[in-house]
Amino acid sequence: MLNSNEALNFAVATVREAGAVLREYYRTGVTVRYKGEIDLITEADRASEDLILRRIRSAYPDCAILSEESGASANAASALWIVDPLDGTTNFAHGLPIFSVTMALLVNDLIEVGVTYDPIYDELYTARRGQGAYLNGERLHVSTVPTLDKALLVTGFPYDRRTNPNNNIRQFTDFSLCAQGVLRLGSAALDLSAVAAGRLDGYWEFKINPWDIAAGVLLVEEAGGQVTMPDGSPLDLFARQIVASNGLIQTEMINALMNSTPWPRAA
Ligand code: IPD
Ligand code: CA
Ligand code: CA
Repeated sequence: MLNSNEALNFAVATVREAGAVLREYYRTGVTVRYKGEIDLITEADRASEDLILRRIRSAYPDCAILSEESGASANAASALWIVDPLDGTTNFAHGLPIFSVTMALLVNDLIEVGVTYDPIYDELYTARRGQGAYLNGERLHVSTVPTLDKALLVTGFPYDRRTNPNNNIRQFTDFSLCAQGVLRLGSAALDLSAVAAGRLDGYWEFKINPWDIAAGVLLVEEAGGQVTMPDGSPLDLFARQIVASNGLIQTEMINALMNSTPWPRAA
């Protein structure tokens, strides 16, 4: 039986170690390679992932792993580690200090542990199911902003946005007109952490991957917020769509997304 407190401690130690690797590459500079037209990968992604996967295989040999650059491990297990070794690669490659390393543990399809680390600001976000969300040990609570027109939102755009008409530009424009503001920070894991911390009030994204959001979903829920699919149905972590907020503006965000056409119902 997997102990979720031990798993949390393991994840904290691992993201801190991986964060130190990222920090070092950030200082010295990296070579950039293109995975797609605008989708990057650097040695830092690889080095961080190598370290995390080695740690998981040694501490949790029976767990399955899903990690951005290596994909899914072959073994089927009831416990799954989900990893993004560097979330915010584009920022990282441009020398913009907004990026993170994030990992989560799913047991029987429930997110039990979620950890996101910002190695530049040394901000560690942690959550364990039923035990609250924390930033550097301080309990987190979502914001109390009551309405969308006073809300500061954040989103992101898919890497195929130049060719895919379902690229979130329409939704970005619509929310820009009805919210207080809409940001694009470039790390979904930090976007969700900011909602959990009450720094931002809402986040949505299409064509997002489970490794980008798994830890953040638990952080937001444990900080008292709400996370659903864009149509308001319960979140499917693997369905590549998400709306998260302080809960107070969730219905307004869902209504705005449902009225903003066209929107990508299928991933
Ligand atoms: C990306 C970031 C970005 C989001 C993209 C992700 P990456 O992850 O989380 O904020 O908008 O959808 O792919 O490629 O930097 O790991
Ligand atoms: Ca990512
Ligand atoms: Ca990544």
